[in-house]
Amino acid sequence: TNRSLLILPGDGIGPEVMAEVRKIIDWFGTQGIAFDVSEDLVGGAAYDAHGTPLHDDTMAKAQEVDAVLLGAVGGPKYDVLDFSVKPERGLLRLRKEMDLYANLRPAQCFDALADFSSLKKDVVAGLDIMIVRELTSGVYFGEPRGIHKEGNERVGINTQRYTESEIARVARSAFELARKRGNKVCSMEKANVMESGILWRDVVQEVHDAEYPDVELSHMYADAGAMQLTRWPKQFDVIVTDNLFGDLLSDLAAMLTGSLGMLPSASLGAPMANGRPKALYEPVHGSAPDIAGQGKANPIACILSFAMALRYSFDLGDAADKVEKAVEAVLADGLRTADLLGEEGTTPVSTAEMGDAIVAK
Ligand code: NAI
Ligand code: MG
Repeated sequence: TNRSLLILPGDGIGPEVMAEVRKIIDWFGTQGIAFDVSEDLVGGAAYDAHGTPLHDDTMAKAQEVDAVLLGAVGGPKYDVLDFSVKPERGLLRLRKEMDLYANLRPAQCFDALADFSSLKKDVVAGLDIMIVRELTSGVYFGEPRGIHKEGNERVGINTQRYTESEIARVARSAFELARKRGNKVCSMEKANVMESGILWRDVVQEVHDAEYPDVELSHMYADAGAMQLTRWPKQFDVIVTDNLFGDLLSDLAAMLTGSLGMLPSASLGAPMANGRPKALYEPVHGSAPDIAGQGKANPIACILSFAMALRYSFDLGDAADKVEKAVEAVLADGLRTADLLGEEGTTPVSTAEMGDAIVAK
């Protein structure tokens, strides 16, 4: 097929939730939507087999495929390892060498879970927004940085630094996404107090006017954006922002909708020769060693990550809708994995039961 997918289940609950994604991939195969799927090791699993958390062959493969889908890495067994071979290093190497500069975190609220939110039900019901965070530059990387002595006290320094091209490429990612969604982008910075914010606003506007005049663009100060996100989040479609503000705003937006077991993500890089962006899809959660091997993990975050791959790597928006609607439907039927239940409530379903129910829908 012309759709290649590399699956890296990883550690802990990674392989458990990925097994449920496999069922969905197989189902699409029966519907004439096939994928060239290959599977490999990452994290602790790769360390056990090869003594490295990411084999060079796996890295090379990740550079070639249309999309990488990763479960999770890490676990207590590997905590004693040297920093250079820790499971996380495998994931960091993937992100760095694929140069994934746009981190996508959707905040999507399924009606059946609206009670889970810390906000009022009508504020979040039906919510579907996407935060695009610049991931490879900004204040976490800028030079000069460090702690030094000035007179008789210490000074801590970080530098917010953005080049025009770094801003332009993440803006393009946001506009491309918007065209596949609600066609609306809100750019957030602090142009009132930061030079990098002024440049950010100018460049996003220039890219818009030259290449994406069809997309509706607005600008907002990031602090006002935080207020608006909690007051009336449904006013947004795609939000594009820098690394620091995106770190805060994406965590805030994620919790508008509830459990860690529900949150997908994607990281995108430059377009490849076939026009598709370099892409890594993964649930936001980790390897959850406390519940690993017990069939308790919620597979929905990983399943929704695959749905993002369908939409943003393979241009299969209808197929992505099908997956998301199936998730919505099983939740509406009352099916809950343990993480979606409070102290009391109905009996939880297992990882496999949740996956089977989604496939059936
Ligand atoms: P975690 O996300 O693995 O777990 C936090 C809590 O949420 C746990 O109680 C866990 O049982 C629960 N949880 C997470 N995902 C769930 C799911 N799908 N269904 C039901 N419950 C779920 O984070 P934690 O405990 O801080 O880290 C555990 C390990 O995972 C560590 O080794 C850490 O380094 C690694 N990690 C890996 C990440 C990745 O691969 N991207 C991200 C975060 C942590
Ligand atoms: Mg964060």
